[in-house]
Amino acid sequence: MARLLNSDGAYGIIAQALHWCVAALIFIQIPLGWYAAHLPVSMARLQWLSYHKSLGLTILALVLLRLVWRRIDAPPPLPSTMAHRERRAAHAMHWLLYFIPVSAMLAGWLYASAARLSVNWFGLILIPDLIAKNTDIAPLFKEFHHGLVGLLALLLIGHIGATARHVFILRDNVAKRMLPARRRRK
Ligand code: HEM
Ligand code: HEM
Repeated sequence: MARLLNSDGAYGIIAQALHWCVAALIFIQIPLGWYAAHLPVSMARLQWLSYHKSLGLTILALVLLRLVWRRIDAPPPLPSTMAHRERRAAHAMHWLLYFIPVSAMLAGWLYASAARLSVNWFGLILIPDLIAKNTDIAPLFKEFHHGLVGLLALLLIGHIGATARHVFILRDNVAKRMLPARRRRK
């Protein structure tokens, strides 16, 4: 039966829903940012950048919620059939998958603040700037944002590759832990 909370063998519905929401939004956010940044200077560019920033802050809130939820509902332990070194690598990877997106989003927010591209969340709420306008430092935050997003893309390739290894090569249940209960039945 589907469980709200994590069990020893699988993630619960809440952790799964948060994981797949963040994943789907990040896969929208990367091409959205790329498209907006490559438009010629125009109202359309500002509008698309505005969607990008609003969606970015939504993702930031969801990732922070995931971290809070992780404290409340601890993730299932990795199976002892996995080598110790592999379990340590998986843990390190999972922490990086929290740390790098949060850093990338903060760098984007710092850039937007320094460049006076203030965020108006989907036209509904004016989000405070993180720092005062500073055109000298803005390009540095922009570089950080680009670099960290690049690093996130590499991590995601590794994360999806590791999932594929569990599904197609090791053929164990590790990847199925992030799927609804009926998909876990053999
Ligand atoms: C097609 C894309 C993705 C697939 C197939 C996938 C698959 C998985 C699977 C199977 C797990 C569970 C691993 C285990 O049982 O220990 C997992 C965990 C995790 N995934 Fe993904 N994932 C994807 C996208 C993402 C994205 C975009 C992010 C965010 C940057 C992300 C962040 C995480 C994190 C942080 C965990 C660890 C959860 C925890 O224990 O707190 N994943 N993923
Ligand atoms: C995980 C979340 C995010 C991802 C994956 C992401 C990704 C990207 C990408 C791929 C670009 C285009 C880079 C280029 O090719 O030039 C970009 C640009 C940009 N992002 Fe983000 N972003 C995220 C969050 C944010 C947030 C939270 C903000 C601000 C609140 C933000 C503000 C910007 C701005 C202002 C640009 C335009 C920079 C330029 O002119 O090149 N981003 N982002």
